[in-house]
Amino acid sequence: MVSRVRSAGILGIDGYSVLVECDLSGGLPAFDIVGLPDASVKESRDRVRAAVKNCGFEFPLRRITVNLAPADLKKEGPIYDLPVLIGILCASNQLKLPPDDACFIGELSLDGALRPVSGMLPMALCAKEGGVRSLYVSAENAAEASIAGDLAVYPVSHVKELVSHLTGQQPIEQAPPYRPNVRETAAAPDFADVMGQENVKRALEIAAAGGHNVLLIGPPGSGKSMLARRIPSILPELTFEESLEVTKIHSVAGILRPDTPLVTRRPFRSPHNTVSAVGLSGGGSGRVPRPGEISLSHNGVLFLDELPEFRRDALEVLRQPLEDGAVTITRVAGTYTYPSRFMLICAMNPCKCGWYGHPSGRCRCSAESVEAYTGRVSGPLLDRIDMHIEVPSLKFEELRARVPAERSEAIKARVDRARKIQTVRYEKSGVTCNAHMTPQMLREHCRLDPESATLMKDAFDALCLTARSYDRVLKVARTIADLAGESEIGASHIAEAVQYRSLDGKRQR
Ligand SMILES: Nc1ncnc2c1ncn2[C@@H]1O[C@H](COP(=O)(O)OP(=O)(O)OP(=O)(O)O)[C@@H](O)[C@H]1O
Ligand SMILES: [Mg+2]
Repeated sequence: MVSRVRSAGILGIDGYSVLVECDLSGGLPAFDIVGLPDASVKESRDRVRAAVKNCGFEFPLRRITVNLAPADLKKEGPIYDLPVLIGILCASNQLKLPPDDACFIGELSLDGALRPVSGMLPMALCAKEGGVRSLYVSAENAAEASIAGDLAVYPVSHVKELVSHLTGQQPIEQAPPYRPNVRETAAAPDFADVMGQENVKRALEIAAAGGHNVLLIGPPGSGKSMLARRIPSILPELTFEESLEVTKIHSVAGILRPDTPLVTRRPFRSPHNTVSAVGLSGGGSGRVPRPGEISLSHNGVLFLDELPEFRRDALEVLRQPLEDGAVTITRVAGTYTYPSRFMLICAMNPCKCGWYGHPSGRCRCSAESVEAYTGRVSGPLLDRIDMHIEVPSLKFEELRARVPAERSEAIKARVDRARKIQTVRYEKSGVTCNAHMTPQMLREHCRLDPESATLMKDAFDALCLTARSYDRVLKVARTIADLAGESEIGASHIAEAVQYRSLDGKRQR
């Protein structure tokens, strides 16, 4: 007899439907899994065999063939343990076949307890779209699975419990539907802790309002790392769709915390400067590449502290995703595209000793060494950074005064207002903020009056702007106008935006 049980798999960061077919036939006892399983799927045979016996069932001494359809997609991981076990019990008439719209996903321990697996949300979403009405997963995965909605999710702790449910002896209680208003509680660092630095805070407000990439340059201890870590506190809330996207990526990467089944806070990733190119872009030794830091920071912030210390080849992989908002990784098994639209925040010292340009004159670096240090960051990468912000050392009076600084909440209110204008302007275009305007949008929404155009021309010549950095200045100016609530870009907006290209001027000297 052949039994058919529904399950799901993960390809990249999306789920796909899998049908687990199980056939028992005469001949010498054997247990084979076909349908492009990898080594970890094949191991499932031993777990299933032990779990069947330890749950008080009989493991059929027949020729067992399990087929994971579609057979042309490679299957990875321990997620098929549960459907294979159910398939064997049904094929050997120890259990009635579950209804067609039931789906089973989970890893088994040898005694039949269910273990959580990565990538539950994308699999649950795909199951729902495929017409599944009831989904059986481990208790730890239930909250994440229920985010998919319109689906009865049953948290299963043990196979025995599941069998009692399927035979109607003792029904399992459905997981409660996910409530989107449950927020993560831990407080994020607040801008109120940062004394002085009004200009820098203004610049970061603009960056947050338009989603612009930022480079912070300043001497040691001026507060660059401190400022960068506070940026998430002034970014707008994630929409539900954005939360889903982020959660899918984090789920597949296996970094979703069990207490936060849905990521509701913007990611903030700060990889160490020893990170490899693969660590940033994604990849690894598996057949399906793992998402890298740039995808894990999708819809959030990627913070590269001490930028010149990063490996050159690692930094260069940022170039494509910074333009496209996605990274494409090619493997023998296929091409995978992962979303990676993040706000890039970088921090660096102006020279090796860190004090170049400091009023105290304590920098002893030669002109060549300063150039070599900043030169470690390539021109093309710098070109993709919209705003270069100088962070000066704090004066004693500013530090001493300890006047309460403006709270992140107040800054965020202004950022939210500016973002709302952008949401209306780019409605239904897929673009959410000024930094991601397409060239056509740029022509439409960044028209310049004669005065602004003259200013822009002067800046273009004086700073040797490239076509790309010219566009980026326009986008920043658009954000400044939005913050001011102006419908047209004015000369003062351009003047302020040009200030944030300080490095272009220094590089060509
Ligand atoms: N504006 C400020 N207000 C209050 N404290 C500050 C300020 N700037 C710096 N500090 C204090 O100085 C410490 C060091 O700051 P931070 O680590 O951000 O410096 P940095 O610019 O990243 O230095 P480095 O270049 O060495 O990495 C902070 O933890 C904070 O205690
Ligand atoms: Mg620092």
